Parts: sequence; structure tokens; C-alpha cells
Amino acid sequence: MTHTFKAYRLTKRNDQVKGEVQQLSIHDLPEGEVLIRVHYSGINYKDAMANMENTPIIKDYPITPGIDLAGEVVESSDDRFTEGDPVIVTSYDLGVSHDGGYSEYARVKAEWVIPLPEGLTLKQAMILGTAGLTAALSIDQLQQQQIMPESGKLLVTGASGGVGSIATAMLANLGYHVEASTGKVKAHDWLYQLGAKKVIDRTDVTGEKLRTIDRQTWAGAVDPVGGSTLASIISKLNYNGAVAVSGLTGGVKVPTSVHPFILRGIHLIGIDSVYCPMQVRQHVWQRMATDLKLTVQQFDTIVAKEVCLEDLEHALPLLLETNVIGRIILNLS
Ligand SMILES: NC(=O)c1ccc[n+]([C@@H]2O[C@H](COP(=O)([O-])OP(=O)(O)OC[C@H]3O[C@@H](n4cnc5c(N)ncnc54)[C@H](OP(=O)(O)O)[C@@H]3O)[C@@H](O)[C@H]2O)c1
Repeated sequence: MTHTFKAYRLTKRNDQVKGEVQQLSIHDLPEGEVLIRVHYSGINYKDAMANMENTPIIKDYPITPGIDLAGEVVESSDDRFTEGDPVIVTSYDLGVSHDGGYSEYARVKAEWVIPLPEGLTLKQAMILGTAGLTAALSIDQLQQQQIMPESGKLLVTGASGGVGSIATAMLANLGYHVEASTGKVKAHDWLYQLGAKKVIDRTDVTGEKLRTIDRQTWAGAVDPVGGSTLASIISKLNYNGAVAVSGLTGGVKVPTSVHPFILRGIHLIGIDSVYCPMQVRQHVWQRMATDLKLTVQQFDTIVAKEVCLEDLEHALPLLLETNVIGRIILNLS
């Protein structure tokens, strides 16, 4: 086994955060039962935020960011895993307070590790990553509220982003009539390619005036945007409609009232991919390898860029410039 390897590290000196590729030793890795040779990781919104100066996400430096990883087990003191097993780890403390996926090697707690489901490659698992898990959790939860293809149209917001694009493709494959909302004109054709039936401008979700009760338009919604977008969705859901909310790119304050909930029986579902129970996580990863699986063409379409460790310094801020369409993945193999 190699005793030194490369990792993208964030260090803080004189209040300035710097990201750079460093040479580390296996002994520098944090404690954990499972040592993994990382093959792929990805860039999520949270990773881009973690890379910023004065971020609330990282408390202690130095740290290796990267909230997702997929790779092969090198050694394990937990008998659920053996050398050579292909595995996935997403979230928990990974890349936040425990060295993460932007590294050729990672050591993690066995309770965080998921065997790669049959039907997915390590690369596909990281094209999905936390964004895919969040999209799939959202769909799983909407279905538990009986929001089915025959219920009516579904809205997906932030559709050119990771969560939104994957949700659009998964829902389209399940036979839902998906309306995808985006702020990027250049993403329209791309979203039709992923399976959207209609693409609408981000501003059309709210319309000219935000009301708390408005015309019934969608049976359900996957919303990684939040803010006034979420308030508007709530006002426009059909009777007994549901929205799965996961994000805050559009803001944290949601200007709504109790009216849509008590007059239309609206369901507001919160989605958490970070500490969601292992049983749920495994169920949803299994679905991503079977009935929610993207086609090879959709996987290819969703990858905006494949980068290496040395590219991360420039690739991470790119995601926050909101010009990126789809997912950026990190190849460490
Ligand atoms: N709850 C969880 O467990 C969980 C898990 C994963 C992600 N998240 C959250 O979900 C959100 C999306 O994550 P992601 O990885 O998909 O990020 P992403 O790939 O960066 O996509 C974010 C998308 O949000 C839209 N957007 C950006 N600024 C906006 C604004 N001011 N108003 C409305 N829409 C805006 C853009 O899409 P368009 O241009 O197409 O509108 C952008 O592409 C983030 O807030 C992230 O923290 C939460």
C-alpha cells in the first residue's frame, strides 16, 4: 500500500483560507474502521461553500473537504467490509469535520459506509452523490404522500443544478409530467434532453405577485431553492399537494401563511441527506440503481466537467458563480 498520497487541503493562516494539493501520509488520516482508496468524488453546493473564506460549514482547519466519495476498501477492522469492496460514503461529518473525499485515500467510520449497489459504477455513484441522494429522497417522500404520475404535473426548481437536474431525469423516467424551472436560458434544451416536458423561467414560478393562495398548478414539487420560490410553490399546489424542500439557494425566509396548509391540505416535506438513517439511505441508493436509475445518456448529459485534484481550486468557486449546468465530478482513479 502507498504510504503517501495527494489530497486537496484547506488551511487557515492569519484568517485567510487557502486550498491546495498536499502530500499526506496514511498516518495523517483521521480515525475510523475503514480505509478506502477513493476513485471519484463530486462538487456539491455545500463543498463550494466549505471552500469559501468565513464559511459557517468548516469550524476547524486544516481539513480535506469533499462530502462525497466512492472507492474501494483497502482495509477494514469491521467485518462488514473486506479488501476490494466497492463502497460509497456521503455526508455525516465527511468533508466538514472529518477529512473528506478530495483525497486519494480516506479513513471513515464503518457506520457511514454503504456497499455500492449492483447496477451502478463508482463513477455513476458520484455523478449522483449527495445531489442524487437528495433528489431520490425527495421523490421517495413525495410518493409516500401518494404523489404519482397520474396525480398531475410536478415542478422541479433549480433544475440546472445537481439536485434539480437529477430529480428532473428521475421523475421523467418514472413517467411524471415534469415542469423544470431554471434561471439559465442556455439550460432549456439540456433540460428537455433530460426529460422535462416543459421548461419555465425561474421568475415564472413566483409570477408578478406573490400570493399565499394562488391558482392550483402542480400536484407536487421538488424544491432545492427555498425562499420566496417555496412560498409560491405552496400557494400553487393542487389540493392535497406536496413539496419536498431541500435547499436554500433562493433564500431562507419563506413568506407564506397557514392558509394553504389548512385550506388545501398541503404537505411540506423536509429533506435531510446528511443524517438520514442508514436504512433509508440504503433503500434510496438501491432505488437509484434500479427504478430511479438514470440512462447512460442522462448520466453523460448531467456531467458538466470531470476534474482532477489540481483543478479543484478553480472548479469549486465556479459552482457558486451559477453558470454551471449539471454536476462537476472529481476523478482520482
Ligand atoms: N437538504 C439536504 O440534505 C441537501 C442536500 C443537497 C443539497 N442541498 C441544498 O440544495 C441546494 C441545491 O444544491 P445543489 O448541489 O443542487 O446546488 P447547485 O448544483 O449549485 O445548484 C443550485 C441551483 O440553484 C439555482 N439557483 C441559484 N441561485 C438561485 C437564486 N438566487 N434563486 C433561485 N434559484 C437559484 C440554480 O438553478 P437554476 O439556474 O436552474 O434556477 C443553481 O444551479 C443547496 O442549497 C444545497 O445546500 C440540501
